[in-house]
Amino acid sequence: MDSVQTDWPKDGGGMKRRRDDEEISSTNKQVPDHGVKVASHYNKLQEVGLAARSQSRIFFMRNFNNWLKSVLIGEILEQVRGAEPGPVSVLDLGCGKGGDLLKWRKGGIDHLVCADIAEVSVEQCRSRYEDMRRRSHVREKIFTAQFITADCSKELLSEKLESTELFDICSCQFVYHYSFESETKADMMLRNACERLKPGGFFIGTTPDAFELVKRLEASDSLSFGNQIFDVSFQSKGSYPLFGCQYHFSLEGVVNVPEFLVYFPLLEHMAKRYRMRLVLKQRFWQFFQERVKKEQHRSLMAKMMALETYSHEDPGQPSEDSTGEYCHAKEYCGRAGVKLPVGTLSRSEWEAASIYLVFVFQKMS
Ligand SMILES: C[S@@+](CC[C@H](N)C(=O)[O-])C[C@H]1O[C@@H](n2cnc3c(N)ncnc32)[C@H](O)[C@@H]1O
Repeated sequence: MDSVQTDWPKDGGGMKRRRDDEEISSTNKQVPDHGVKVASHYNKLQEVGLAARSQSRIFFMRNFNNWLKSVLIGEILEQVRGAEPGPVSVLDLGCGKGGDLLKWRKGGIDHLVCADIAEVSVEQCRSRYEDMRRRSHVREKIFTAQFITADCSKELLSEKLESTELFDICSCQFVYHYSFESETKADMMLRNACERLKPGGFFIGTTPDAFELVKRLEASDSLSFGNQIFDVSFQSKGSYPLFGCQYHFSLEGVVNVPEFLVYFPLLEHMAKRYRMRLVLKQRFWQFFQERVKKEQHRSLMAKMMALETYSHEDPGQPSEDSTGEYCHAKEYCGRAGVKLPVGTLSRSEWEAASIYLVFVFQKMS
């Protein structure tokens, strides 16, 4: 099931490809702390209602990302249960405001630990959970939960856990790249993700693909690239340190806190320290293409509105497309035998979503 990317720019994108042990020891430099900025950024983010969200130019991309996480979580839960029936315990590392709570509920897990650096997000996550419990049917058994505010790239989570229980899954969605500021931080995050996993347990997540980011940067004639919905900007190019290689990712005009390139072969190497073996690494588009073949995943896509419906026979649908945002969908609709309407993302959304990858590590017994 492994499908490791190999499309690193031909010259290596300037990232030195020496032996892994040399690379790690050559990068022990001091870098300024970043956690405070991350916490303050996420603490300030406002919850947006459905009405406003549906007006956003990235409405479908957000839904698509959620669909992808749902499918990933569903697949891993199936594997966990297939290997050993019994209660399932999960760590959501960088849980945010609890965007995945419903996925864990649907997956019928037994216990969830939610951890995040942003205190306001953790409180929102807790109140969402309490609300979910209150509103649930008396016969539905909702998982128990613990909420922890901590910088998981600096603090040891095992010292804060209420129980000594081990986890079946650690889920780290759109988070890991913040810790690649330094080797110490990336390692602490990894330790938190993996040290309390059961043998056979999984560390799953989503993160930008450094190969793709560097490839697009190298193809650009400036220090940035993007389109009308996102922009990625670097401070320099040609040379990319293994840790602390910072870039800014802004989405819909909102500048995010700086992120760091996660050079995946290095993460894979570091994970071995925790007896973790890479079992899946796929770019979003690859993951999508494989999963969409199954009817159950397609119907979930429709339910979650993970794609926009498009038909070239329906004028003004989804928009007049004066900017060519739906050329690919129009071309596809014109093919023989295609049933209308089709599901798609705008070109801009797809360019943003296709930066990311999905990973699954498993703990060796
Ligand atoms: C893009 S959000 C993703 C939230 C959630 N996982 C999701 O998929 O909806 C990134 C989250 O990572 C958290 N985060 C970043 N660095 C962290 C750290 N060092 N320790 C814990 N959480 C961190 C942020 O506070 C934020 O909530």
